[in-house]
Amino acid sequence: MTHPAGHPSGPVLRPRRLRQSPAVRRLVAETRLHPAELVLPVFVREGITEPVAISAMPGVVQHTVESLVAEAQRAADAGLGGIMLFGVPEHKDAVGSGADDPDGILNVALRAVADAVGDRLVVMADLCLDEFTDHGHCGVLTADGRVDNDATLERYAAMGLAQARAGAEVLGLSGMMDGQVAFVRDALDAEGFTDTVILAYSAKYTSGLYGPFREAVQSSLQGDRATYQQDPANATESLRELELDIAEGADIVMVKPAGPHLDIVAAAAAMSPVPVAAYQISGEYAQIVAAAENGWIDRERVMMESLIGIRRAGAQIILTYFAFDAAALL
Ligand code: PBG
Repeated sequence: MTHPAGHPSGPVLRPRRLRQSPAVRRLVAETRLHPAELVLPVFVREGITEPVAISAMPGVVQHTVESLVAEAQRAADAGLGGIMLFGVPEHKDAVGSGADDPDGILNVALRAVADAVGDRLVVMADLCLDEFTDHGHCGVLTADGRVDNDATLERYAAMGLAQARAGAEVLGLSGMMDGQVAFVRDALDAEGFTDTVILAYSAKYTSGLYGPFREAVQSSLQGDRATYQQDPANATESLRELELDIAEGADIVMVKPAGPHLDIVAAAAAMSPVPVAAYQISGEYAQIVAAAENGWIDRERVMMESLIGIRRAGAQIILTYFAFDAAALL
């Protein structure tokens, strides 16, 4: 009998040949993850004496400065690429004073972590006001309650300088204000911080998946960030944001959230002359962990599948709350 594929003994072309064993599959794998490409986001909270669990992110905590330093040491030992610090201040106000206060929690923690890990781990700081403002927005407000872009830039410059002075090597500009990369770059250069790296959250979409993060930083935000973060309906706009940030001097560009926007990660990788990062955010983490806790999916498998997908789309650096778990399997 002649087989439908035209050969008496069956198909001539058999792609399954390269899937037949773990060793062959390993040989032909096109995408690999490496711990050095993973960055662990962490939270440090002022005024606590023990780490506090974050209920919507099982396994993730708000650290004390002391427990954060220990976590950073573990991250360096695990060979992770970096650690991204978020601060949770005890007191918030309209302009986010804690953000550029050298004694503010984020700057204190940056100093402690930078001292502890030296150059074994890249120390990064979130540069945004939302954790520090009592209204929870990423910028300062006008008298009628709108986010004031240009006044916010001045606050970002002050915050960036405080972070650079505290020892941050990479500043993660996540506020989505127009002109923020150029403005912070100028301020850093004017003070001699020409080596401080800017990681620009260039294509940052407004998302319901930030939910667990709001608990993690005890955000007081009412409403949403739709006047500054991007509409998930748009792709062309992301290319414009990426082009602007690269022109303004971003050293690394980022797409966020990662999972729902892998087309944008791929587009960024295709056009960007600088490394592309992607952030697997709190809600992406929570979805996987919650389903696994219910026994509905396999945690490790889905974690690795989600990360390899982000890598395959073109992200060279991945921020993920799974950084330790993934590194342990690599
Ligand atoms: C802004 C910032 C946010 C996240 C990272 N940087 C919150 C937001 O934009 O609402 C979210 C990260 C996550 O959800 O894991 N400071």
